[in-house]
Amino acid sequence: MSSNKEEQELYLYDPSLLLKLDFYRSPAKFNPPITCVAPGEPWLKVRPLKSGDYRRGFLQILSQLTSIGEISEVQFLNRFAEMRAKGDYYVTVIEDLRKNKIIGSATLVIERKFIHSCGNRAHLEDVVVDDTYRGKQLGKLIVVTVTCLAEYLGCYKMSLECKDKLIAFYRSIGYVDEPGNSNSMTLRYDKQANL
Ligand SMILES: CC(C)(COP(=O)(O)OP(=O)(O)OC[C@H]1O[C@@H](n2cnc3c(N)ncnc32)[C@H](O)[C@@H]1OP(=O)(O)O)[C@@H](O)C(=O)NCCC(=O)NCCS
Repeated sequence: MSSNKEEQELYLYDPSLLLKLDFYRSPAKFNPPITCVAPGEPWLKVRPLKSGDYRRGFLQILSQLTSIGEISEVQFLNRFAEMRAKGDYYVTVIEDLRKNKIIGSATLVIERKFIHSCGNRAHLEDVVVDDTYRGKQLGKLIVVTVTCLAEYLGCYKMSLECKDKLIAFYRSIGYVDEPGNSNSMTLRYDKQANL
């Protein structure tokens, strides 16, 4: 990708938001200490999704999470534009700058409510780290980043659904099972697709 093309790329959301996050508010422990601004290596970058990330393997990363289907670059850009226009989607990625490649992602979605004085509720979605980069705190880093971002944006709570084996992972970041209020139920419209 030429630098001229890179300059024309759009961010999904304002990247300066990530400079304002206070990682010390999170109960997550990092050893050695890292944050989204200083992720531990000069070649690691935490940032909003960009319009050029189709060519940086963003969808290949998501395919390590679930089935993604055949998605053309045009389809990707249309969905990117929809999310950007809505303004409630904070897809956040980690890039390996040496390889110009996306190696991790997590999405914060903000749901606007009438309840809680027209409050905003945050949802954590689509957390994944490339399998060759796992075990280096990057999963924790990307989840804490979007978790702090939700708080910074004024959400009153953030919730997620996860596989049983990841409960310990999310507990270490401060997520709890609320007594009497931690069920997750699903009605599938896509039984054939098994999405
Ligand atoms: C879950 C995932 C994002 C974790 O990424 P990672 O970079 O390996 O995680 P980290 O190195 O930051 O690990 C943070 C902590 O969680 C623990 N952990 C990580 N993956 C775990 C797993 N699959 N099961 C249990 N614990 C796990 C680590 O041991 C570590 O513990 P510590 O802080 O006590 O040392 C990654 O394994 C992944 O992408 N999995 C496939 C997709 C997926 O299942 N996503 C979650 C959907 S809810």
